[in-house]
Amino acid sequence: MPEAPADFRSDTVTLPTPEMREAMARAEVGDDVFGDDPTVKELEARAAALVGKEAAIFVPSGCMANLIAIMAQAPAGTEMLVAENSHVHTAESAAYARVAQVTKWPLKVDRFGRLDPQEIARNVRKGYGLPGGNSHHATTSLLCLENTNNFCGGTVQAPADLRRAVDAARAQGPWIKVHLDGARLFNAAVALGVPAREIAAVADSVSFCLSKGLSAPVGSLICGTKADIDQAHALRKMLGGGMRQAGVLAACGLISISEPMIARLAEDHANCRRLAEGLAELPGVTADLETVQTNILFFGCQGPKGGAAWLVKALEAEGVRCLALGERVRMVTHRGVTRAHVDEALRAAGRLLK
Ligand SMILES: Cc1ncc(COP(=O)(O)O)c(C=O)c1O
Repeated sequence: MPEAPADFRSDTVTLPTPEMREAMARAEVGDDVFGDDPTVKELEARAAALVGKEAAIFVPSGCMANLIAIMAQAPAGTEMLVAENSHVHTAESAAYARVAQVTKWPLKVDRFGRLDPQEIARNVRKGYGLPGGNSHHATTSLLCLENTNNFCGGTVQAPADLRRAVDAARAQGPWIKVHLDGARLFNAAVALGVPAREIAAVADSVSFCLSKGLSAPVGSLICGTKADIDQAHALRKMLGGGMRQAGVLAACGLISISEPMIARLAEDHANCRRLAEGLAELPGVTADLETVQTNILFFGCQGPKGGAAWLVKALEAEGVRCLALGERVRMVTHRGVTRAHVDEALRAAGRLLK
């Protein structure tokens, strides 16, 4: 049995690497609200270059990144088109509504998280003030995409899929902006074997998290046009998130976006596939293996003593931590999960489900 218990709840449980701890101690820092922190500046510049945008801003979390990106691009009283199962729509405390004062039009996704271009086109609305506008409607101002799609099981959309969605929206509303929630953008890039900037190219803004598979303790980046990122500084302040000597965190982020840290995500993907294939053979487990494309696995369970909630509790007693989300179990692989942990989890599940 591996030494540490296996924690498959999320890739957010990853601990900073020893190299990150050293980089924190060494980091050159300053007051970032005055623009004086060289390490934050370096992280922002490298992040922007990596995803092919003009500028970037370092923020505390993926949720704040999405909220700021929405506020920078969707005026209050307008509407965003968003996948019905997206994190922005289902798991961010309705901040788009409560704080940004933006309403949403949720769209169906297929099992890979792809939006239907025709449904997008049908649901672009022109409100009061636009030529041909209808005062009953809020104007569609933003299309929000997510890649990888968390709740589809870390599924990946190719740049061409994203392009089809964006083209469908812009054919009806050329003014529509596009935000890509790329919390796990680099998982998508590694799975597709393309540079992250190729995926981000369809979007005006893209956010990604340092604190998931990339293992930093804290932080996300929003990357976009210089004008939007300038505005994002004011929005971050307004939301309470201007950080001072944040270079100690940015130093970890620089390691997160280094080539070896990005490349190692492939290991997490291989571990997830092994886990999925092993679990799919057990009685009572239903898993769609085609959707296992990166580091997230969702599966259904009908065990001898219950469903997802029972299995999660029973696995916990065996030293394997995972989450029940509704009727499904979620298991996520990451730097803290080894192949030995995967095999141990499979043995434990095998004992419980026999
Ligand atoms: C797709 C997606 N977007 C955004 C977030 C929010 O990130 P954070 O937890 O850093 O706020 C998550 C978190 O799991 C996510 O999965």
